[in-house]
Amino acid sequence: MQTRHMIDLCDLSTEEWEELTSLACDIRDNMEAYAHVCDGRVMATLFYEPSTRTQMSFQTAMLRLGGQIIGFSDPENSSVAKGESLKDTVRVVSGYADLITMRHPMAGAAKVASMYSRVPVINAGDGGHLHPTQTLTDLVTLRNEKGRFDDLCIGMCGDLKNGRTVHSLLKTMSRFKGNRFVLISTPSLRIPLYVRDQLVKSGCEFVEADNLADVIGELDVLYMTRIQKERFASIEEYHEQSGVYILDGEKMKLAKEDMIVMHPLPRVDEIAIEVDDDSRAKYFEQTEYGLYARMALIMTMLKEPKKELATLPVGSLHCCGNPNCITNRELYVPRSFRRESDMLVCDYCDEHTLLP
Ligand code: NCD
Repeated sequence: MQTRHMIDLCDLSTEEWEELTSLACDIRDNMEAYAHVCDGRVMATLFYEPSTRTQMSFQTAMLRLGGQIIGFSDPENSSVAKGESLKDTVRVVSGYADLITMRHPMAGAAKVASMYSRVPVINAGDGGHLHPTQTLTDLVTLRNEKGRFDDLCIGMCGDLKNGRTVHSLLKTMSRFKGNRFVLISTPSLRIPLYVRDQLVKSGCEFVEADNLADVIGELDVLYMTRIQKERFASIEEYHEQSGVYILDGEKMKLAKEDMIVMHPLPRVDEIAIEVDDDSRAKYFEQTEYGLYARMALIMTMLKEPKKELATLPVGSLHCCGNPNCITNRELYVPRSFRRESDMLVCDYCDEHTLLP
């Protein structure tokens, strides 16, 4: 693999995705053969935000490979509560562990961690931005359940604005030929500009829709998502958006016989319990594919040796306009932007702002 860290799955090539997913499938079929490949290695899980599946599947993955785990799942029990910067925490932990997996509520946090770490960093979700290892899980699911990554009609439904799993999956699936996307959400929860830009650039066809029942019959894959309560400015705004999309047995009757339903979980009310018994529901299988996907990723990333820290460039004077960008919390981070036509795009969170 070319990249040292896993911040955005799109930093890898489609061939590398193929390699990782085929390794994941081999691990699933031959678990014992991999039981000692990480003997003596240590992975740190730094979870600044709640998690069940991602954290536990990473930990299980490392234990099943023979390695050990350290870390925290409640930053209030670490020196973060005393005001320690992300930079200092990561620098210290990278002296203890061979690999760091991190989840953080701010967009761009994993990228910042990678700048201060001597060991590879895996982004286990950075705010409402990206979630590459969920997408790797989704690729393993598609490989097993649909047998292909291309020529699929993929419906994404729910919180397309704040759902990091949606952003990573759309960016990734738009790299394959012949995929078509049906983006089902309320007008306020449409995809952000950086994902829209990527879809346009890819040339993949995409349409936006308001009504799930109207479009479900076209889909090969339906990816349901939770309305991301924790990303809303107020509880009133959340209540305006919650409960709008519910996949139930009636809607499943309108779907193709070989459509599959995916969901990164946790679900709240967007999939009725009755759907669990439908053979097209694959969200529990998906969680298990996540274990193999993460085992494949850990093995691959642990091939990287420890490195010395590089000197960082001087940052831009411009500030990112996204209040949830890590550069607006960890103020020592050198700000960095790229120019795309008349826009400045933040290299950490991908927020677009018009050039001054
Ligand atoms: C997702 C996440 O944390 O972004 N969960 C997960 O990692 N499986 C989805 C969500 O929280 O809604």
